[in-house]
Amino acid sequence: MQLILLGPPGAGKGTQATRIGEEFGIPPISTGDMFREAIKKKTPLGEEVAQYIQAGELVPDELVLGIVRDRLAQPDTAVGFLLDGFPRTLPQAVVLDQYLTEKGQKLTVVIDIEVDPEILVMRLSGRRICQECGAVYHILTKKEQQAGICDHCQGRLIQREDDYEATVRNRLTVYTNQTAPLIKYYRDAGLLLQIDGAQPISAVYQGIITGIRQRLGQ
Ligand code: AP5
Ligand code: MG
Repeated sequence: MQLILLGPPGAGKGTQATRIGEEFGIPPISTGDMFREAIKKKTPLGEEVAQYIQAGELVPDELVLGIVRDRLAQPDTAVGFLLDGFPRTLPQAVVLDQYLTEKGQKLTVVIDIEVDPEILVMRLSGRRICQECGAVYHILTKKEQQAGICDHCQGRLIQREDDYEATVRNRLTVYTNQTAPLIKYYRDAGLLLQIDGAQPISAVYQGIITGIRQRLGQ
């Protein structure tokens, strides 16, 4: 099963990716998480991408394609994968298509989670992340049990550097200009499954699972 999660910043891709991955036994792969890990570890890649991420701009395609190629070469992707936040430009989508064709694979579904931009600004400026396990919280809608501490691993909760309001607004503009054209690309390919991401997390999840199963004829 080869899945893509598309949708603007804050649509709930990461939140849903963990659950969908567990449901189908496939690894969720987030390019954003991989970049943040590289920044945290101060690797050469991390140093190269930090400025783009901080500004809410896209990382250049060649850097993104390099890490995705390496990640998809890992053995755990033999059963399939769920891409969260990749592809984000038409050239990235074309390279992914070529890669899958070479491997004799096809995309199963492209899930597009849609949410009104003002809701996204509210979601992202209130988001908190566990710096150890990456679990996602929100100061209003998904509070941790003990202030500042992750419910799952007791790690410390932090705010992402690109979650300040001005940067969030730039990320939304970048999405509209550079990533939204992929909606038509995948609709034309007959792969698009659109989901209203303004519903509660569990309803979004149910919509995704039902939609995937329908595509699979299950
Ligand atoms: P990335 O990490 O992919 O960030 P993003 O797409 O901006 O998406 P987010 O992670 O902010 O949002 P999400 O949709 O995962 O929402 P979440 O589940 O956390 O990318 C970061 C940066 O890396 C990019 O800006 C770019 O610089 C670079 N990059 C990455 N990939 C790249 C690529 N392919 N090419 C070029 N550059 C790339 O939820 C958000 C909040 O809302 C949470 O607090 C959550 O609890 C809450 N929430 C979720 N669902 C709901 C719901 N249904 N109702 C209420 N609240 C909800
Ligand atoms: Mg995310």
